[in-house]
Amino acid sequence: MAATTLPSAAATARPTGRLRRFWDSTVGKKTIMAITGIAGIGFVFVHMAGNLQMFKPVGAAPAMHDYAVALRKLGALLWLARLGLLACVILHVIAATQLTLRNRAARPVAYARRQGQSSTLGARTMRIGGVLLLAFIAFHIADMTFGAGLAGFTHLDPYNNLRLGFQRWWAVTFYVVATVFLGLHLYHGAWASWRTIGARRSSDRPFARPIAIALAVIIAVGLAAVPIAAALGAFPEASARIELEDTISASAPAPATLGGGGR
Ligand code: HEM
Repeated sequence: MAATTLPSAAATARPTGRLRRFWDSTVGKKTIMAITGIAGIGFVFVHMAGNLQMFKPVGAAPAMHDYAVALRKLGALLWLARLGLLACVILHVIAATQLTLRNRAARPVAYARRQGQSSTLGARTMRIGGVLLLAFIAFHIADMTFGAGLAGFTHLDPYNNLRLGFQRWWAVTFYVVATVFLGLHLYHGAWASWRTIGARRSSDRPFARPIAIALAVIIAVGLAAVPIAAALGAFPEASARIELEDTISASAPAPATLGGGGR
């Protein structure tokens, strides 16, 4: 019996065997979730900082355009970052799903009554918030990167794409609701990740997490600021002075995409 369930000594000695055992263990999955989550926080922080260029008093449209072009000019590096981010999302979701199923299997009969210990709203909304964020990311890339269904979308003109996109009240609502859930997810996730990788001991005072709170509030408010300001008419129509040359050198699929959807 033991011979069929335990890996052989040779398998555990091999790096792939050790990696497999790490991935199969609960602590391994939590560590993967922590590392991929921290990478995700890094991404959303940089993304938020980039989006805040929308508020540049003069030349926000050209600034956003130059930013989009500069990103494309990174070429292979941009693709490496995109693939890395995609890998992080996939690993994060698989590990979260497997841990949830493992928890359920360990307790097939639910508690008769749940006694909330020191759980926060962030902790209680991790799963539902995670599913909503996944749906948001899929919609958001189709919407703002590919311009699917966004009338007037122009490749490499994020200023006007955001201005037009947030003339739709339902999109403003969806983006703001998603940022609220993102804030809650980050609040609990940032603190839990920190604890998983051993940097912080368990605390029975969940509200005493100043860094996690500050990070979550800064990111949620910084991201929600753009859709809210756009809905309030803070971004007037402006030309991004898109050069055909930019579009080509930033490796768009075809010059015909200028002024149209797609990339
Ligand atoms: C709520 C406010 C947000 C605004 C205003 C916003 C704005 C944008 C815009 C304009 C683009 C297209 C950029 C371009 O094509 O040059 C973009 C792309 C993207 N956004 Fe957001 N975003 C927001 C929130 C988020 C969140 C919360 C996430 C993830 C959790 C996210 C993930 C992405 C990703 C993965 C891309 C594609 C990047 C690429 O093409 O390489 N965004 N966003």
